[in-house]
Amino acid sequence: MTAPCHHKITIYQIYPRSFYDSNNDGIGDLKGILQKLDYLHELGFETLWISPFFSSPQADFGYDISNYTDIAPEYGKMEDALQLIEEIHKRGMKIVFDMVMNHTSDQHAWFKESRSSRDNPKADWYLWRDPLPSLLRRGAGGEVPNNWKSMTGGSGWHYAEERDQYYWSSFLPMKPDLNYRNPEVKKAMLNIVRFWLGKGVDGFRLDIFNVIYKDAEFRDNPFAFQLAPTETNPSGFFQEAKYTLNQSESFTFAKELRAVCDEFGEKMLLGEISGDRETTRKFLGEETNDGLTHAFDFDMLTFKFTAEYFGDLIKKIEANYPDPFMPIYVFGNHDRRRSINRIGEDQQKAKLIHTLQMTVRGVPCIYYGEEIGMTNLKQSFAAALDPIPHKFKFIPPIFFDMIGLTINRDEVRTPMQWDGTRNAGFSFAEKTWLPVHENYREINVAAESEDENSLLNTICALAKIRQTEKSLQEGTLEILEGLPSGVLGYARKLGNEKIVILLNFEEKEKQFEFENAECILKLSPKDQTKNKAIYLGGFGGMILK
Ligand code: BGC
Repeated sequence: MTAPCHHKITIYQIYPRSFYDSNNDGIGDLKGILQKLDYLHELGFETLWISPFFSSPQADFGYDISNYTDIAPEYGKMEDALQLIEEIHKRGMKIVFDMVMNHTSDQHAWFKESRSSRDNPKADWYLWRDPLPSLLRRGAGGEVPNNWKSMTGGSGWHYAEERDQYYWSSFLPMKPDLNYRNPEVKKAMLNIVRFWLGKGVDGFRLDIFNVIYKDAEFRDNPFAFQLAPTETNPSGFFQEAKYTLNQSESFTFAKELRAVCDEFGEKMLLGEISGDRETTRKFLGEETNDGLTHAFDFDMLTFKFTAEYFGDLIKKIEANYPDPFMPIYVFGNHDRRRSINRIGEDQQKAKLIHTLQMTVRGVPCIYYGEEIGMTNLKQSFAAALDPIPHKFKFIPPIFFDMIGLTINRDEVRTPMQWDGTRNAGFSFAEKTWLPVHENYREINVAAESEDENSLLNTICALAKIRQTEKSLQEGTLEILEGLPSGVLGYARKLGNEKIVILLNFEEKEKQFEFENAECILKLSPKDQTKNKAIYLGGFGGMILK
């Protein structure tokens, strides 16, 4: 059986505000993406996931949508979105929109109406509850309905005077959660999905998909001895998210959504799901892949740079995502710290993790700028545009660094570094929406294109190899035993085709005997094959065929 097309993809995430500014207002836009399509095409990633660019007050930079079928003016017009779909398809590429289904902006017409009274036609479109007569849970307008905490800390209940009631919000107060137990809400949202599929979109990345349903009875969450949420355990703030996450109806909804997409052909549904691997997998289906097509594996964002760590990681992922399931390997996104900062901003080490990402059995997803090794830009909480740090500005940032949480997401959203000219070639504006990282003179697309050993050229070469080698797209994976310590090796096989990947996670050079094969990519100039001997430079690696 051949693998479905969507399992062979490579994904590039564009954060539109920071990608390329075509009209010099300091903010990236859709025409900017259009102008850079040839770059992306040459880079060799064929599926572009674009973070939200729909109408929005931008209180959470587009993840607060006020109209799902219209474009925010700073990003362009509907005709630009349609042209983008067309131009991407012309190049044989695919486009994935970001679908924020769990909540709308509080400025969405649905919420404004819902909030206006207890008996309007949309009164039940969001999660409204009466204040509770308890002395303990005092909120702004009385007593909050239960003990639920939001994903960003503190009660997620917010008072609205108009109704003398609280509404629930999983993330931030200006993003009220929709009530999916109301069939009209589900119908309206699925119609939006159909609207964009009808315009030719190839699928959706699904924002916080596993919070979509909450407990029907609004039962209190139990106590848990856990301060902050982690990649594998989304509970936190001393509470187990038992009634606010992963409700059985959310798994069923994944299948319903898939069925709607199937009406339009083979489409992708990429789930942002927090939690342990088994739960994440359940969103894809039990026996067959009839739920979401993919889910991101976020556990690897906290990797240790060792052969053992990655060997174990691959084994765990393989066990959890056997065929026909396929994980997404991801090292960064608009919410998490860029991974290169975990490895001392070392581009040679970055070549290793991306070689792994592009050659294991899984879909690779890279975040804009990762291909050139863009780094995080430390910025103060007080000056942050991101709303989250303002919730935590009384806690010293060093505390979050110690527990590995990214609070100020501005740090990972700085403008793309295209070249060494002003504003890194991102914009001619006086001021860009976020500052450009000062390292742009060295770390930029133009400079790295010239250097054949650059991270950029390595990633480009990897993408080309993945495009031509079927065994990398759909072959099996077998970890190789008996290699020197510090070296991770695995084979990808499909019929008679075989590709071997060897990665040296240590600074020390390695030499060992290995079967005769042609080397099709070297990560370090010191890497060599001679007869049956393999030499790997420090943090070197190779792909053999
Ligand atoms: C998005 C964030 C967003 C949040 C809530 C996350 O998945 O990636 O940027 O703020 O969901 O919508």
